[in-house]
Amino acid sequence: MMQQPIPAHGGELVNRMAPADDLAGLTQEASSLPRIDINSRVHSDLDLLGVGAFSPLTGFMNQADYASVVADMRLANGLAWSLPITLSTNREQAATLTAGARVALVRDGEPVAILEVEETFPYDKQREAELVYGTKEEAHPGVAALYAQDEILVAGAVTVLRRKPSEFDEFNLAPAQTRAIINEKGWRTVVGFQTRNPVHRAHEYIQKCALELVDGLLLHPLVGDTKSDDIPADVRMRCYQVLLENYYPLDRTVLGVLPAAMRYAGPREAIFHSLVRKNYGCTHFIVGRDHAGVGNYYGTYDAQKIFEHFAPGELGITPMMFEHTFWCNTCEGMASTKTCPHPADQRIALSGTKVRQMLTDGEMPPIEFSRPEVAQVLIDAYRSQDSVATQSR
Ligand code: ADX
Repeated sequence: MMQQPIPAHGGELVNRMAPADDLAGLTQEASSLPRIDINSRVHSDLDLLGVGAFSPLTGFMNQADYASVVADMRLANGLAWSLPITLSTNREQAATLTAGARVALVRDGEPVAILEVEETFPYDKQREAELVYGTKEEAHPGVAALYAQDEILVAGAVTVLRRKPSEFDEFNLAPAQTRAIINEKGWRTVVGFQTRNPVHRAHEYIQKCALELVDGLLLHPLVGDTKSDDIPADVRMRCYQVLLENYYPLDRTVLGVLPAAMRYAGPREAIFHSLVRKNYGCTHFIVGRDHAGVGNYYGTYDAQKIFEHFAPGELGITPMMFEHTFWCNTCEGMASTKTCPHPADQRIALSGTKVRQMLTDGEMPPIEFSRPEVAQVLIDAYRSQDSVATQSR
């Protein structure tokens, strides 16, 4: 019997990729349209709009959706959505864009999509910063990216001519492809895991705790733009590959990537990450400590508490929440504050900063923190002269 596919957010999985038959005509049309240059972050959003990862969105937000999302984490029609998805341009160009106009979105000189203008509107960056990121400080990397945007937003549906190139082609499965794999495997329940850091024992522990309760695991590292001191995505993917080969049941695990930019919006991004993974076919989503956090902007469990803003079942994906996990010497294994009664001096919870320092010094992070195969990948990356990690240290 064919299983019921998990509904996309809003009901239908959106597809805004140009149909193959129209591609030549649309590409030709795009070459003669007015142009808006887009940066890498907007290009990532465009790519995800194209493949329906942002269903039900069909393009960049209009004023009603934008205002409602910023104020209340809902689209104007009431459907949950926590982060603005916007395209900006300067005032001069905005003045030339009237409703119904068609514009080419251009990256590195090449048109990559056509946008049909719905409207243009001004917006308040400081207000967006305060409500979405919880701070107006430019030291926050998400806020810095917002402040760097142009002054006017351009709304409209997009038709994407081709996907954004990815160095992880093999893993860059679109939502429909990921859903097909889930279907083929016959999984009724699938937990998604978001990450932007090299995989460590706490990640593995919470993934496997979750996998005890559901049929399959979608490991979904985010590989779009991250802040410069995060470990580069290619190194993180190598870590995952050695971990999977050595420690995971491959028939119950799928490794994909999410080619999105990181916002570091903490709680709001936890909701966003859940809804996007729902579009990839997940029924469950892991939210641990300080999900999508940065610095001290968010409380350790704020990204879990924010789910209370929505009615039970409203999001259509079930969060699986985990407390801070660590290695406990007395338990001789991974544990959390929920399961371990031992004092703090028995617990090994290395910070990312400490681990980076160990790697810089060529020291192997201990097995209580990292599987040796993963630690070796990280050490090799730090030793390599070509490594971006080394350059940005
Ligand atoms: S994130 O920015 O993508 O959230 P990271 O890759 O560190 O960063 O975390 C991935 C997921 O694992 C998040 O849900 C996070 O909350 C969770 N997590 C990371 N470390 C721990 C830990 N020690 N205990 C519990 N959850 C954790």
